[in-house]
Amino acid sequence: VKSFVVTGASSGIGWATAVLLAENGHRVFATVRKEADAHALAENPGITPVFMDVSEAEQVAEAAAKIRSEVGEAGLDGLVNNAGSGTALPLELMAPAQLRQQLEVNTIGQLAVTQALLPALRRARGRIVMIGSIGVRAVPPFTGPIVVPKAALTALTHILRQELAPWGIRTILVDPASIRTDAGEKLAAAAEATVENFSAADRGLYGAAYKTMTSRFLALDVAGSPPSAVAEVIVHALTDQRPRAHYTVGRNRRRLSMIPRLPIRLADALRRRVFGIPGPGSVIGAPR
Ligand SMILES: NC(=O)c1ccc[n+]([C@@H]2O[C@H](COP(=O)([O-])OP(=O)(O)OC[C@H]3O[C@@H](n4cnc5c(N)ncnc54)[C@H](OP(=O)(O)O)[C@@H]3O)[C@@H](O)[C@H]2O)c1
Repeated sequence: VKSFVVTGASSGIGWATAVLLAENGHRVFATVRKEADAHALAENPGITPVFMDVSEAEQVAEAAAKIRSEVGEAGLDGLVNNAGSGTALPLELMAPAQLRQQLEVNTIGQLAVTQALLPALRRARGRIVMIGSIGVRAVPPFTGPIVVPKAALTALTHILRQELAPWGIRTILVDPASIRTDAGEKLAAAAEATVENFSAADRGLYGAAYKTMTSRFLALDVAGSPPSAVAEVIVHALTDQRPRAHYTVGRNRRRLSMIPRLPIRLADALRRRVFGIPGPGSVIGAPR
């Protein structure tokens, strides 16, 4: 029996991964933030819920200590850094404090959890799976709050992979493309609230394009692959004898991966078409 940690297992990709690992006979520590999610997960034999907010240093230390003592000498066979969340916002309107918080939840927290579990991972020559995003390649407008931290997480993953290789620890990047999870609904709800909170001037600047972009983005996700598709790739990355260093999974992955290979002007024109963004110079003057 191997032991794995999956962060952000209350729903979506994390839930599907924890359940699939447990179904395959593994022991799973699944992190959650709410009592109800812990109860729901604990109904699956093999899953032990652990409370942890990845952006709270004390909670990370406490959860890691618990996991390390449970796995003991055998060590930990794998860590899936899946927890993450993001909204959409034009960068002009994003307070630096908001970006700092997004980095805590989507980049720094992942490093902190990894650091805390590395002693146990090193013991078992375990694997680390980081959940990035195809957004790092597609980089659509207004996705700064999530894509900026995911771009940093991607670089962090490439560096960790090299730094940890001497111990036989594999670090693997899994980029989901369009996946149908609660994340889409959360984004849509947050987007609606966000536009409501725009000042009249800001709504004049960004309101229409923002609404178009978020609704098209949601449509892509709603028509996306189920989270089980990503879970299967993660389990393969954790257990296959010769895993790849990087996987991309889900609907639209080919189309979206192609964008950075185009000349930048063409890529921008394509993004404008897909997401309904006004053309360069097409908005005249400033609202008063
Ligand atoms: N869905 C997609 O199309 C897509 C595409 C690219 C990348 N991804 C990535 O895939 C991963 C999973 O997303 P999902 O689609 O499955 O979304 P989801 O259903 O919203 O799941 C996100 C999970 O992260 C947890 N989480 C959020 N903030 C946290 C924090 N500060 N500390 C600990 N846990 C936290 C959530 O817990 P709570 O329930 O407690 O909030 C939840 O369990 C994320 O990293 C996301 O960026 C998703």
